[in-house]
Amino acid sequence: MSDAILSITGLSKTYASGFQALKKVDLEIRRGEIFALLGPNGAGKTTLISIVCGIVNASAGRVTVDGHDIAADYRAARSLIGLVPQELTTEAFETVWNTVSFSRGLFGKPADPAHIEKVLRDLSLWDKKDNAIRTLSGGMKRRLLIAKALSHEPQVLFLDEPTAGVDVTLRQGMWELVRKLRETGVTIILTTHYIDEAEEMADRIGVISKGEIILVEDKTELMRKLGKKQLTLQLAQPLEQIPAALSTHPLALAANGNELTYTYDTHSEHSGIAALLDDLDKAGISFKDLKTSQSSLEDIFVSLVREKEA
Ligand SMILES: Nc1ncnc2c1ncn2[C@@H]1O[C@H](COP(=O)(O)OP(=O)(O)OP(=O)(O)O)[C@@H](O)[C@H]1O
Ligand SMILES: [Mg+2]
Repeated sequence: MSDAILSITGLSKTYASGFQALKKVDLEIRRGEIFALLGPNGAGKTTLISIVCGIVNASAGRVTVDGHDIAADYRAARSLIGLVPQELTTEAFETVWNTVSFSRGLFGKPADPAHIEKVLRDLSLWDKKDNAIRTLSGGMKRRLLIAKALSHEPQVLFLDEPTAGVDVTLRQGMWELVRKLRETGVTIILTTHYIDEAEEMADRIGVISKGEIILVEDKTELMRKLGKKQLTLQLAQPLEQIPAALSTHPLALAANGNELTYTYDTHSEHSGIAALLDDLDKAGISFKDLKTSQSSLEDIFVSLVREKEA
Protein backbone atom coordinates (compact mmCIF):
# COMPACT_ATOMS: atom_id res chain seq x y z
CA MET A 1 0.00 0.00 0.00
CA SER A 2 1.46 3.29 -1.02
CA ASP A 3 0.83 6.59 0.64
CA ALA A 4 -0.94 7.88 -2.47
CA ILE A 5 -4.36 6.41 -3.12
CA LEU A 6 -4.74 8.29 -6.37
CA SER A 7 -1.86 8.94 -8.67
CA ILE A 8 -2.12 11.08 -11.79
CA THR A 9 0.84 11.52 -14.13
CA GLY A 10 1.14 13.51 -17.32
CA LEU A 11 -2.59 13.71 -17.77
CA SER A 12 -3.70 15.69 -20.81
CA LYS A 13 -7.06 16.10 -22.47
CA THR A 14 -7.84 17.63 -25.82
CA TYR A 15 -11.55 17.56 -26.61
CA ALA A 16 -12.76 16.70 -30.13
CA SER A 17 -13.24 20.43 -30.68
CA GLY A 18 -9.46 20.77 -30.43
CA PHE A 19 -9.68 22.52 -27.08
CA GLN A 20 -7.00 21.46 -24.61
CA ALA A 21 -8.67 21.24 -21.23
CA LEU A 22 -5.81 19.56 -19.32
CA LYS A 23 -2.11 20.02 -19.85
CA LYS A 24 0.20 17.36 -18.40
CA VAL A 25 -1.32 17.29 -14.96
CA ASP A 26 0.62 15.52 -12.20
CA LEU A 27 -1.15 15.03 -8.90
CA GLU A 28 -0.98 12.61 -5.99
CA ILE A 29 -3.80 12.32 -3.52
CA ARG A 30 -2.88 10.92 -0.14
CA ARG A 31 -4.82 8.16 1.49
CA GLY A 32 -7.41 9.54 3.89
CA GLU A 33 -7.01 13.22 3.12
CA ILE A 34 -9.52 15.86 2.13
CA PHE A 35 -8.17 17.57 -0.95
CA ALA A 36 -9.80 20.71 -2.32
CA LEU A 37 -9.31 21.55 -5.96
CA LEU A 38 -9.87 25.24 -6.51
CA GLY A 39 -10.12 26.89 -9.88
CA PRO A 40 -12.16 29.32 -11.92
CA ASN A 41 -14.89 28.30 -14.37
CA GLY A 42 -13.52 26.24 -17.22
CA ALA A 43 -10.21 25.48 -15.46
CA GLY A 44 -10.56 21.74 -16.04
CA LYS A 45 -11.81 20.48 -12.68
CA THR A 46 -14.75 18.48 -13.99
CA THR A 47 -12.66 17.18 -16.89
CA LEU A 48 -10.05 15.88 -14.45
CA ILE A 49 -12.65 14.17 -12.28
CA SER A 50 -14.48 12.77 -15.30
CA ILE A 51 -11.29 11.13 -16.56
CA VAL A 52 -10.52 9.56 -13.19
CA CYS A 53 -14.08 8.25 -13.03
CA GLY A 54 -13.93 6.86 -16.55
CA ILE A 55 -16.58 9.16 -18.03
CA VAL A 56 -14.14 10.98 -20.30
CA ASN A 57 -11.12 9.41 -22.02
CA ALA A 58 -7.70 10.95 -21.47
CA SER A 59 -5.63 12.01 -24.47
CA ALA A 60 -2.40 11.17 -22.67
CA GLY A 61 -1.16 10.23 -19.23
CA ARG A 62 -1.82 7.66 -16.57
CA VAL A 63 -4.14 7.41 -13.58
CA THR A 64 -4.08 4.73 -10.90
CA VAL A 65 -6.51 4.30 -8.03
CA ASP A 66 -4.97 2.30 -5.21
CA GLY A 67 -2.62 0.79 -7.76
CA HIS A 68 -5.30 -0.04 -10.33
CA ASP A 69 -4.82 1.59 -13.71
CA ILE A 70 -8.09 3.24 -14.77
CA ALA A 71 -7.62 2.08 -18.35
CA ALA A 72 -6.16 -1.43 -17.97
CA ASP A 73 -7.99 -2.29 -14.77
CA TYR A 74 -11.11 -0.17 -15.12
CA ARG A 75 -13.60 -2.20 -13.09
CA ALA A 76 -11.38 -2.51 -10.05
CA ALA A 77 -10.42 1.16 -10.19
CA ARG A 78 -13.97 2.36 -10.70
CA SER A 79 -15.41 0.25 -7.88
CA LEU A 80 -13.16 2.13 -5.44
CA ILE A 81 -14.57 5.49 -6.49
CA GLY A 82 -17.74 7.35 -5.63
CA LEU A 83 -18.70 10.37 -7.70
CA VAL A 84 -21.05 13.16 -6.77
CA PRO A 85 -21.41 14.94 -10.09
CA GLN A 86 -21.75 18.66 -10.60
CA GLU A 87 -24.91 18.32 -12.67
CA LEU A 88 -28.09 16.84 -11.31
CA THR A 89 -29.39 13.92 -13.33
CA THR A 90 -33.02 12.98 -13.32
CA GLU A 91 -34.49 9.55 -12.97
CA ALA A 92 -37.60 11.45 -12.00
CA PHE A 93 -40.03 8.62 -11.40
CA GLU A 94 -37.83 6.20 -9.51
CA THR A 95 -37.95 6.19 -5.71
CA VAL A 96 -35.06 7.27 -3.51
CA TRP A 97 -34.62 3.76 -2.10
CA ASN A 98 -34.57 2.04 -5.49
CA THR A 99 -32.20 4.56 -7.04
CA VAL A 100 -29.63 4.21 -4.29
CA SER A 101 -29.95 0.41 -4.12
CA PHE A 102 -29.64 0.11 -7.88
CA SER A 103 -26.56 2.29 -7.85
CA ARG A 104 -24.82 -0.16 -5.52
CA GLY A 105 -25.71 -3.03 -7.84
CA LEU A 106 -24.07 -1.25 -10.76
CA PHE A 107 -20.72 -1.78 -9.07
CA GLY A 108 -21.32 -5.48 -8.66
CA LYS A 109 -21.73 -5.29 -4.91
CA PRO A 110 -24.24 -7.62 -3.27
CA ALA A 111 -27.39 -5.99 -1.93
CA ASP A 112 -26.99 -4.60 1.57
CA PRO A 113 -30.20 -2.95 2.79
CA ALA A 114 -28.61 -2.12 6.15
CA HIS A 115 -25.91 -0.09 4.43
CA ILE A 116 -28.41 1.70 2.20
CA GLU A 117 -30.50 2.51 5.26
CA LYS A 118 -27.48 3.94 7.07
CA VAL A 119 -26.54 6.10 4.09
CA LEU A 120 -30.09 7.44 3.75
CA ARG A 121 -30.30 8.13 7.48
CA ASP A 122 -26.91 9.88 7.51
CA LEU A 123 -28.13 12.12 4.71
CA SER A 124 -31.50 12.81 6.34
CA LEU A 125 -33.28 11.14 3.44
CA TRP A 126 -34.72 8.20 5.32
CA ASP A 127 -38.21 9.67 5.59
CA LYS A 128 -38.13 10.24 1.82
CA LYS A 129 -37.06 6.73 0.90
CA ASP A 130 -40.35 5.88 -0.82
CA ASN A 131 -40.70 9.22 -2.55
CA ALA A 132 -40.24 9.63 -6.26
CA ILE A 133 -37.19 11.75 -7.03
CA ARG A 134 -39.20 14.41 -8.81
CA THR A 135 -40.92 15.21 -5.50
CA LEU A 136 -37.63 16.10 -3.74
CA SER A 137 -36.37 19.62 -3.23
CA GLY A 138 -33.15 20.76 -4.91
CA GLY A 139 -31.13 20.28 -1.72
CA MET A 140 -32.58 16.81 -1.20
CA LYS A 141 -31.69 15.86 -4.78
CA ARG A 142 -28.14 16.93 -4.08
CA ARG A 143 -28.06 14.75 -0.97
CA LEU A 144 -29.48 11.93 -3.05
CA LEU A 145 -26.50 12.23 -5.40
CA ILE A 146 -24.23 11.81 -2.40
CA ALA A 147 -26.25 8.79 -1.23
CA LYS A 148 -25.84 7.21 -4.68
CA ALA A 149 -22.11 7.86 -4.62
CA LEU A 150 -21.83 6.19 -1.21
CA SER A 151 -24.04 3.21 -2.05
CA HIS A 152 -21.13 0.94 -2.95
CA GLU A 153 -18.85 2.00 -0.07
CA PRO A 154 -16.15 3.74 -2.11
CA GLN A 155 -12.64 4.38 -0.81
CA VAL A 156 -12.31 7.62 -2.75
CA LEU A 157 -15.13 10.12 -3.01
CA PHE A 158 -15.21 12.92 -5.56
CA LEU A 159 -17.51 15.81 -4.85
CA ASP A 160 -17.76 18.18 -7.80
CA GLU A 161 -19.05 21.48 -6.43
CA PRO A 162 -21.05 19.79 -3.68
CA THR A 163 -22.44 22.95 -2.17
CA ALA A 164 -23.10 25.11 -5.23
CA GLY A 165 -26.59 26.50 -4.84
CA VAL A 166 -27.08 24.88 -1.47
CA ASP A 167 -28.37 26.82 1.53
CA VAL A 168 -26.15 27.66 4.49
CA THR A 169 -27.58 25.07 6.87
CA LEU A 170 -27.36 22.29 4.35
CA ARG A 171 -23.84 23.36 3.50
CA GLN A 172 -22.79 23.00 7.14
CA GLY A 173 -24.49 19.62 7.20
CA MET A 174 -22.56 18.49 4.15
CA TRP A 175 -19.27 19.60 5.63
CA GLU A 176 -20.04 17.61 8.73
CA LEU A 177 -20.93 14.58 6.66
CA VAL A 178 -17.71 14.84 4.67
CA ARG A 179 -15.71 15.01 7.90
CA LYS A 180 -17.51 11.96 9.25
CA LEU A 181 -16.72 10.07 6.06
CA ARG A 182 -13.09 10.97 6.34
CA GLU A 183 -13.07 9.60 9.87
CA THR A 184 -14.13 6.25 8.43
CA GLY A 185 -11.06 6.35 6.17
CA VAL A 186 -12.58 7.62 2.94
CA THR A 187 -10.34 9.88 0.87
CA ILE A 188 -12.19 12.96 -0.33
CA ILE A 189 -11.52 15.20 -3.30
CA LEU A 190 -13.80 18.15 -3.69
CA THR A 191 -13.91 20.97 -6.18
CA THR A 192 -15.21 24.30 -5.14
CA HIS A 193 -15.35 27.96 -6.01
CA TYR A 194 -15.78 28.82 -2.37
CA ILE A 195 -12.49 29.64 -0.76
CA ASP A 196 -14.00 29.47 2.70
CA GLU A 197 -15.08 25.93 1.95
CA ALA A 198 -11.55 24.91 1.06
CA GLU A 199 -10.28 26.75 4.12
CA GLU A 200 -12.79 25.02 6.36
CA MET A 201 -12.56 21.51 4.99
CA ALA A 202 -9.32 20.71 3.26
CA ASP A 203 -6.08 19.16 4.47
CA ARG A 204 -4.45 20.17 1.20
CA ILE A 205 -5.38 22.60 -1.49
CA GLY A 206 -4.63 22.46 -5.19
CA VAL A 207 -5.22 25.35 -7.55
CA ILE A 208 -5.94 24.64 -11.20
CA SER A 209 -6.05 27.27 -13.92
CA LYS A 210 -6.37 26.77 -17.66
CA GLY A 211 -5.76 23.05 -17.43
CA GLU A 212 -2.62 23.31 -15.30
CA ILE A 213 -2.10 22.67 -11.62
CA ILE A 214 -0.37 25.80 -10.44
CA LEU A 215 -0.14 25.09 -6.73
CA VAL A 216 -0.50 22.20 -4.30
CA GLU A 217 0.07 22.88 -0.63
CA ASP A 218 -0.93 21.85 2.86
CA LYS A 219 -3.70 24.13 3.94
CA THR A 220 -2.14 24.99 7.27
CA GLU A 221 1.12 25.81 5.53
CA LEU A 222 -0.72 27.95 3.01
CA MET A 223 -2.64 29.68 5.75
CA ARG A 224 0.52 30.20 7.74
CA LYS A 225 2.14 31.86 4.78
CA LEU A 226 -0.92 33.91 4.07
CA GLY A 227 -2.33 34.20 7.51
CA LYS A 228 -0.18 37.20 8.35
CA LYS A 229 -2.06 40.11 9.65
CA GLN A 230 -0.88 43.68 9.83
CA LEU A 231 -1.79 46.31 12.33
CA THR A 232 -1.12 49.83 11.13
CA LEU A 233 -0.98 52.67 13.62
CA GLN A 234 -1.26 56.24 12.47
CA LEU A 235 0.93 58.15 14.83
CA ALA A 236 -0.03 61.41 16.46
CA GLN A 237 3.57 62.60 16.04
CA PRO A 238 5.98 61.34 13.37
CA LEU A 239 8.94 59.27 14.53
CA GLU A 240 12.45 59.45 13.13
CA GLN A 241 13.20 55.92 14.07
CA ILE A 242 11.73 53.08 16.06
CA PRO A 243 12.67 53.62 19.70
CA ALA A 244 14.98 51.03 21.26
CA ALA A 245 12.31 50.28 23.86
CA LEU A 246 10.18 48.82 21.07
CA SER A 247 12.93 46.80 19.40
CA THR A 248 11.53 43.48 20.58
CA HIS A 249 8.40 43.98 18.46
CA PRO A 250 8.32 43.26 14.71
CA LEU A 251 7.67 46.83 13.65
CA ALA A 252 8.30 48.87 10.54
CA LEU A 253 8.14 52.62 10.16
CA ALA A 254 6.44 53.96 7.05
CA ALA A 255 4.80 57.00 5.49
CA ASN A 256 7.53 59.46 6.50
CA GLY A 257 7.51 58.25 10.05
CA ASN A 258 3.78 58.73 10.43
CA GLU A 259 2.85 55.06 10.44
CA LEU A 260 3.98 52.05 12.39
CA THR A 261 3.11 48.65 11.00
CA TYR A 262 3.13 45.58 13.13
CA THR A 263 3.03 42.14 11.49
CA TYR A 264 1.73 39.17 13.41
CA ASP A 265 0.59 35.64 12.88
CA THR A 266 -3.15 35.15 13.14
CA HIS A 267 -2.69 31.52 14.08
CA SER A 268 -0.37 31.96 17.02
CA GLU A 269 -2.01 32.08 20.40
CA HIS A 270 -0.76 35.51 21.34
CA SER A 271 -0.78 38.30 18.81
CA GLY A 272 1.47 40.39 21.03
CA ILE A 273 -0.75 43.39 20.44
CA ALA A 274 -1.50 43.97 24.11
CA ALA A 275 2.21 44.05 24.95
CA LEU A 276 2.90 46.32 21.98
CA LEU A 277 0.24 48.83 23.01
CA ASP A 278 1.55 48.70 26.53
CA ASP A 279 5.11 49.42 25.41
CA LEU A 280 3.95 52.20 23.08
CA ASP A 281 2.21 53.80 26.00
CA LYS A 282 5.31 53.49 28.19
CA ALA A 283 7.44 55.02 25.42
CA GLY A 284 5.01 57.94 25.23
CA ILE A 285 3.98 57.22 21.65
CA SER A 286 0.33 57.90 20.91
CA PHE A 287 -1.65 57.23 17.77
CA LYS A 288 -4.63 58.83 16.04
CA ASP A 289 -6.02 55.79 14.34
CA LEU A 290 -5.40 52.15 13.68
CA LYS A 291 -6.42 49.55 11.15
CA THR A 292 -5.77 45.87 10.53
CA SER A 293 -5.48 44.04 7.25
CA GLN A 294 -5.08 40.39 6.37
CA SER A 295 -4.13 38.50 3.25
CA SER A 296 -6.62 35.73 2.68
CA LEU A 297 -6.66 32.55 0.68
CA GLU A 298 -8.86 34.49 -1.69
CA ASP A 299 -6.13 37.08 -2.28
CA ILE A 300 -3.54 34.47 -3.12
CA PHE A 301 -5.95 32.54 -5.28
CA VAL A 302 -6.87 35.60 -7.30
CA SER A 303 -3.26 36.71 -7.67
CA LEU A 304 -2.11 33.21 -8.66
CA VAL A 305 -4.75 32.89 -11.32
CA ARG A 306 -4.06 36.42 -12.59
CA GLU A 307 -0.35 35.72 -12.78
CA LYS A 308 -1.16 32.70 -14.85
CA GLU A 309 -3.33 34.71 -17.19
CA ALA A 310 -0.87 37.54 -17.58
N1 LIG B 1 -17.26 17.85 -24.14
C1 LIG B 1 -16.50 18.92 -24.30
N2 LIG B 1 -16.12 19.34 -25.54
C2 LIG B 1 -15.34 20.42 -25.72
N3 LIG B 1 -14.88 21.19 -24.71
C3 LIG B 1 -15.23 20.84 -23.46
C4 LIG B 1 -16.06 19.72 -23.19
N4 LIG B 1 -16.24 19.63 -21.86
C5 LIG B 1 -15.55 20.65 -21.33
N5 LIG B 1 -14.95 21.39 -22.29
C6 LIG B 1 -14.11 22.58 -22.09
O1 LIG B 1 -13.02 22.25 -21.26
C7 LIG B 1 -12.75 23.31 -20.34
C8 LIG B 1 -12.77 22.77 -18.94
O2 LIG B 1 -14.10 22.42 -18.58
P1 LIG B 1 -14.45 21.80 -17.17
O3 LIG B 1 -15.89 21.46 -17.17
O4 LIG B 1 -13.48 20.72 -16.87
O5 LIG B 1 -14.16 23.06 -16.24
P2 LIG B 1 -14.43 23.24 -14.66
O6 LIG B 1 -13.13 23.62 -14.05
O7 LIG B 1 -15.14 22.07 -14.12
O8 LIG B 1 -15.38 24.52 -14.67
P3 LIG B 1 -16.62 24.91 -13.71
O9 LIG B 1 -16.01 25.54 -12.50
O10 LIG B 1 -17.38 25.88 -14.52
O11 LIG B 1 -17.39 23.67 -13.42
C9 LIG B 1 -13.79 24.37 -20.62
O12 LIG B 1 -13.21 25.36 -21.45
C10 LIG B 1 -14.89 23.65 -21.36
O13 LIG B 1 -15.55 24.49 -22.27
MG1 LIG C 1 -16.95 21.78 -13.29
